[in-house]
Amino acid sequence: MENNEVRMPCHVTIIMDGNGRWAKKQGKLRLFGHNVGVESVRECCEYAVENGIRYLSLFAFSEENWGRPKAEVEGLMALMVKSVLAERPTFMKQNVRFRVIGHRESLPEDVLKNIELAENETSGNTGLNLIVMLSYSGKWDIVQAARRLAKATLEAGHEIDIDEAVFSSYLSTEGIPDPDLMIRTSGEQRLSNYMLWQCAYTEFYFSPVLWPDFRKKDLDLAIRSFNSRERRYGKTE
Ligand code: FPP
Repeated sequence: MENNEVRMPCHVTIIMDGNGRWAKKQGKLRLFGHNVGVESVRECCEYAVENGIRYLSLFAFSEENWGRPKAEVEGLMALMVKSVLAERPTFMKQNVRFRVIGHRESLPEDVLKNIELAENETSGNTGLNLIVMLSYSGKWDIVQAARRLAKATLEAGHEIDIDEAVFSSYLSTEGIPDPDLMIRTSGEQRLSNYMLWQCAYTEFYFSPVLWPDFRKKDLDLAIRSFNSRERRYGKTE
């Protein structure tokens, strides 16, 4: 699917929601929904590559998700490892740079190891930046930035002049432009502790489609909606 006449957002971020409800509708376990959701991830990446989107970030697992039943958490972590292993050759072929952002210390060792292998292997790629937000939450991000800033102040031995740019450089998304478009699937209309700082001027798009059914045509609809909006950043025009 290629769009020559549509302006592409630089950074699209997606809250992938509705896997559990999708599975329940089919009379299957929640993990089945997560498994089929990987196909939607693949299609959205392909769309991003085909259309020259620079950054695609995906909210795959929140800090709060650690509170889900053990079997689901383990299943999701295993799915992450399996997907990263399976997609590495495609990342290389499609010039995709893969990265994970989130609270790494809370990730199991094998997950971390496989993520780091893929990050290192793709670090020189210059096409799509694919960012998986794993064990991430917006408040965690702001607190870890504040903590590191406080430490830097102590180490410097004097007060650091903190402005928005300085604070941003301590966030886990340092160097990544703020999202232009945030998509949430499954009809829920909340930010759910996601990129709280980074979404200050982001356009929101809520799709009723459950994540396992969200495919290229649905992403295209979201981007066309983004194209019809006028962004004023608090100014009059
Ligand atoms: C939300 O649906 C989805 C998740 C918590 C997991 C998303 C993970 C994937 C799509 C698979 C792995 C991802 C990658 C990047 C390979 P939910 O379980 O909250 O659904 P519900 O709201 O219907 O219960």
